[in-house]
Amino acid sequence: MALDPSVSMHDPIDLTLLPRNAAVDAEGRLSIAGVDVLEAAAEFGTPLFLYDEHDLRSAFREAVDIFGEGVAYATKAFLTPALAGLAATEGMSFDVATAGEYECCRRAGVPASRLVLHGNNKQPEELTRAVEEGVQWIVVDNFDEIDRLIAITRRLRTSVNILIRINPGIEVHTHKYVATGNRESKFGFPAWTGDADKAIHLVREEPYLTFLGLHMHIGSFVLSLTTFLEALDAAAPLLETHEPEVLVVGGGLGLRYLNSDECPTFREWGEAIVAWGHRRFPRSRILAEPGRSMVARAAITLYTAGVVQQKGDLTFVAVDGGMSDNPRPMLYESGYEVFNASRPLARRDLPVRVVGRHCESGDTLVEDGFLPAATKVGDIICTPVTGAYGFSMASNYNLVPRAPIAFASKGKARLTTRRETLDDLFAREVDPTSRASRK
Ligand code: LLP
Repeated sequence: MALDPSVSMHDPIDLTLLPRNAAVDAEGRLSIAGVDVLEAAAEFGTPLFLYDEHDLRSAFREAVDIFGEGVAYATKAFLTPALAGLAATEGMSFDVATAGEYECCRRAGVPASRLVLHGNNKQPEELTRAVEEGVQWIVVDNFDEIDRLIAITRRLRTSVNILIRINPGIEVHTHKYVATGNRESKFGFPAWTGDADKAIHLVREEPYLTFLGLHMHIGSFVLSLTTFLEALDAAAPLLETHEPEVLVVGGGLGLRYLNSDECPTFREWGEAIVAWGHRRFPRSRILAEPGRSMVARAAITLYTAGVVQQKGDLTFVAVDGGMSDNPRPMLYESGYEVFNASRPLARRDLPVRVVGRHCESGDTLVEDGFLPAATKVGDIICTPVTGAYGFSMASNYNLVPRAPIAFASKGKARLTTRRETLDDLFAREVDPTSRASRK
């Protein structure tokens, strides 16, 4: 998307970073899908993840429109039963990498035939359930897994569809923790050593394993289309040899978190990949499994400012969440915009550091942000583009109960996941002797 040079970082927040159905009215009230965000914050408390339900729906619809049936949503980005039900209704399949993600989808009524099982160390019980229930396919990562699958399918006398995950071995420009297509990655069969060929032959020889195709995922938060096309080119010799029925290009497309970010749109990305497939391998079905690019923009996180304190040139704004609801700045030095939802039309002239409430100096949500000079204690502070890898990576650090989720639609906010309670925090304690015996 082209950047508008007339928009400066001091201007009010750029609405194109907010969910698709965000609006600010003439009186300066911010709403998401007709829901007044200050009212939502008052009703459900803060921190709060507020999603635009129709933004989610349109993202899933767009994916099915571009790639067709079988395109999977990578659930690690954000998953609750409410989300799974909604995405399934829009026609998505699901990439699940653990028994927990699998169970969540099944509880939401998703048939196993729409689940794609992932992981570099899938547990025997996870593989067994996937085979018994008949998943869409299992994306096989390594030789030990092939051995395990042969044993399980022979014992159950049941076949299962298989994709072989290959690693094209290319450098990808993203944070090193989320690059997966390079030669140091733990994932997949190296395309450059002959291991990928060997794995395909092993699977093809085994009567209960049905080889359907290849899979690759080069990393996450990739902002350049060229990188994806280079990875496909790197995989082309394998595709020519094996002529797979299905080729899955994984996920990994980034999106704009900051005003200054530039990234292809989901449609530009998807259509470029599908076009590459039609041109080079017209007999293969090209699919994808995006996560972040489908859900990140759909949510904002609302916090309450509890402390506004000037220290030298910098004003610290401490909010009532932090690394427990968004560990991404700390893990990957990810940048976010921030704005004051109580004053969404005010210019952001005050340099601020937005910090959380946890007992750690690194607990920073926005290191170099700007908020209106009038920002004060009690204001609702908002970070946009927080719909992916926030809730799903949330923790109970400092024994802070995890934040709730509300979906906004047609002027109504629906609580889909309630806030954790103090009782929830101790629900797993089973040691009856854990009480002080000295008063
Ligand atoms: N497929 C596979 C096999 C994956 O491992 C992933 C993400 C995806 C698809 C979806 O990628 P996406 O479209 O969301 O980029 N926690 C990190 C991101 C880790 C991504 C892990 N795998 C973050 O917050 O940036």
